[in-house]
Amino acid sequence: MIAYRGGRLQLEGLPAKRLAARFGTPLYVYSRKTVLEKLARMRAAFGGLSPLICYALKANSNRAFCRILSGAGCGAEVVSGGEILRALAAGFKPGTIVYSGVGKTREEIRLALRRKIMAFNVESREELFAIEREAAKLRIVAPISPRINADIKAGTHPHVATGEAGNKFGVSPEEALIITRQALRSRHLRVVGLQSHLGSQIASLRPYRELLSALERLAAALKGSGTALEFLDIGGGFAVDYDEGGKILDLRGLASLAKKTMKACPGARLVIEPGRYLSADAGVLLSRALYRKESFGRKFLIVDAAMNDLARPALYGAKHPVWPEKKDGKREKTDVVGPICESADFLARGIWLPKTMPGDLIAVSKAGAYGFSMSSQYNSRPRAAEILIENGKARLVRQRETLKELLGPEI
Ligand code: LLP
Repeated sequence: MIAYRGGRLQLEGLPAKRLAARFGTPLYVYSRKTVLEKLARMRAAFGGLSPLICYALKANSNRAFCRILSGAGCGAEVVSGGEILRALAAGFKPGTIVYSGVGKTREEIRLALRRKIMAFNVESREELFAIEREAAKLRIVAPISPRINADIKAGTHPHVATGEAGNKFGVSPEEALIITRQALRSRHLRVVGLQSHLGSQIASLRPYRELLSALERLAAALKGSGTALEFLDIGGGFAVDYDEGGKILDLRGLASLAKKTMKACPGARLVIEPGRYLSADAGVLLSRALYRKESFGRKFLIVDAAMNDLARPALYGAKHPVWPEKKDGKREKTDVVGPICESADFLARGIWLPKTMPGDLIAVSKAGAYGFSMSSQYNSRPRAAEILIENGKARLVRQRETLKELLGPEI
């Protein structure tokens, strides 16, 4: 979605300069075409297995953005009552929504039950009992799928590894069997699947191979117990290539591994929960340079976007490609930093950029996942605007927050 044409920076064929002039900066720019391309690529990789693709809303929960995926037949993976409402508002069918998270409140459980979601990914025995109680009050049966933590090293950043011993997520395979037996005894619980999520930005097939055999073993242990598994959900985590030339996950390889497991579980459908894979490439954060500065021999380009807009570099040392408005010119080694009063406030460090002057634009690409959705008002900065480009036209899909709105909820 990002390219130079005639030396000018373009986003999905539209001049970055025009978009910045019309909508202001910092600005999140999304591309419908790219999301659909990524979805098509994913579907092609899985071929005849045709998994239910439950898009992980946390990656980018903008309603217009999510509508693209609901319209294309995806389900949703959610982790809060807010995300349930967002998913429904974006047109995802309740029967295709799976709900994860270690801390579902009673209100959230009730909301999910009333809206008749596809399954609760249960993360503890106490949560199971809470779901049972709420389902009993409503006189309904809650569909559940224990979230399995099979202690598999995902080989990713420790902040985004979720399927290892020591993480708060999921239950051990042994505990999952106990939960399943418990559910079998209840009139208000029904085990419909098994779920797991290894972590995020995983580029190797090894952890998925281990996960699939763990799920297969568990499914075999449940055979004859009276539990009919409708799905096996292997979560998301499929890596994208942030710093060009990095490793990505071999989706076709994953599909052929999954095929074997699914053969061993007749009657069950494969579910996957990609967030980043579908959304990262489809978003760019556009920002304008404010000042240049050199301090102790180090060059800084200070721009109007900051860690409150894109937290990934500060939180995970993530490396997002930076595209300067002017592609040519003598390059200099520069840190690209925001106005926030923290040394962690950088968008890129020590990158080679052509001389960029105050007023010039820069675009941070691969920012469609965990960009705006993780943004905050830190340093009392209103959140950025979001636009979506569809069929060559840009439209505002979330207004820029105003200074007035910052104080709005305070009394
Ligand atoms: N399913 C569950 C239960 C999850 O917790 C997540 C992400 C996903 C699916 C989607 O994972 P993905 O396919 O997007 O990797 N803020 C971090 C990522 C945190 C991911 C949290 N869970 C980042 O910016 O890298």
